[in-house]
Amino acid sequence: MYFTSDNASGAHPEILAALTRANDGFARSYGGDAIMERVTSQVREVFQHPEAAVYLVATGTTANALSLAIYSKPWSAVFAHTDAHIATDECGAPEFYTDGAKLIGVPGDHGKMTPDSLAQTIGRIGEAGVHGVQRGMVSITNVSEAGTVYTPAEVAALTAVAKKWALPCHLDGARFANSLVATGASAAEMTWQAGIDVVSFGGTKNGCLGVEAVVMFDPEKAWEFELRRKRAGHLLSKHRFLSAQMEAYLTDDLWLRLASRANAMGARLAQGVAGAGARHQHPAQANMMFPEWATGTHSRLEAAGAAYYQMPASEGMEAARLVTSWNTDEAEVDQFLTALRA
Ligand SMILES: Cc1ncc(COP(=O)(O)O)c(C=O)c1O
Repeated sequence: MYFTSDNASGAHPEILAALTRANDGFARSYGGDAIMERVTSQVREVFQHPEAAVYLVATGTTANALSLAIYSKPWSAVFAHTDAHIATDECGAPEFYTDGAKLIGVPGDHGKMTPDSLAQTIGRIGEAGVHGVQRGMVSITNVSEAGTVYTPAEVAALTAVAKKWALPCHLDGARFANSLVATGASAAEMTWQAGIDVVSFGGTKNGCLGVEAVVMFDPEKAWEFELRRKRAGHLLSKHRFLSAQMEAYLTDDLWLRLASRANAMGARLAQGVAGAGARHQHPAQANMMFPEWATGTHSRLEAAGAAYYQMPASEGMEAARLVTSWNTDEAEVDQFLTALRA
């Protein structure tokens, strides 16, 4: 009953098998490997964008921070939800790699910005002239930190606001596959067709060992990205091991199959938890949820062997964050629900 995070799960056997295959013999280093060439074609096909520039890095923080860096100046304001991972959980990496851009929190219920909250926040910034940071770019997280999901129409409504000020838009897709499965959208619909310029396309949480793709729809930014990745120390010499993971991840829709399982287990858990009388703090729309239950429940669940993060709760209540993974099984979910109901 392990629900702490989807990156607490292991790597899928098909990913490990691909790594073993890639281990044979010699391959060109630093991204010049033949597998990477195939990955670029695969990603372009998935995103239905024949010119997309594709680069691999080992962590989501790198993908995000370098994506922001190619579109920011040191005096830029980067607009993102107040609870966005880039603002709360990346130890200042976005500020560091952008040479000082300032993250500006945008409010919104359930982890989501709205066109109004974004427009108001962007409107306020830049009024101080030379004394303040300047409007820079927008970053949207899908699946959000609250476990909610933006539809492509909602992404497009946000990017439309950004485009009024000619601001580029980034999508933090650490759980991109889960967002597509939840909405039924295609990768193209969720990104460039909705006004996104650059995506952090996650693999690690969804069954890879450690790989994320940065996908840019403006190839003119590609060279700068390459330079920044190298300068940051994130160009892996044995790059073929990143490429091999991404190739296996995209082959035969493994990425979507794994996210479907995680989301299905999320739905089963969310329904069961609500059925047991808990209240969800946010709509549970993918593989992450935040239920609130009566005081004393944590100790009971922990005694039964459940693992998850405890969260801030309403007065007199307890709250949890539960995350399902590509390898969560039904028995585990049902065992948790039995313990909750006991
Ligand atoms: C929404 C989101 N973005 C980015 C990341 C960063 O990933 P990493 O821990 O690989 O740097 C995470 C990881 O928890 C995440 O949840």
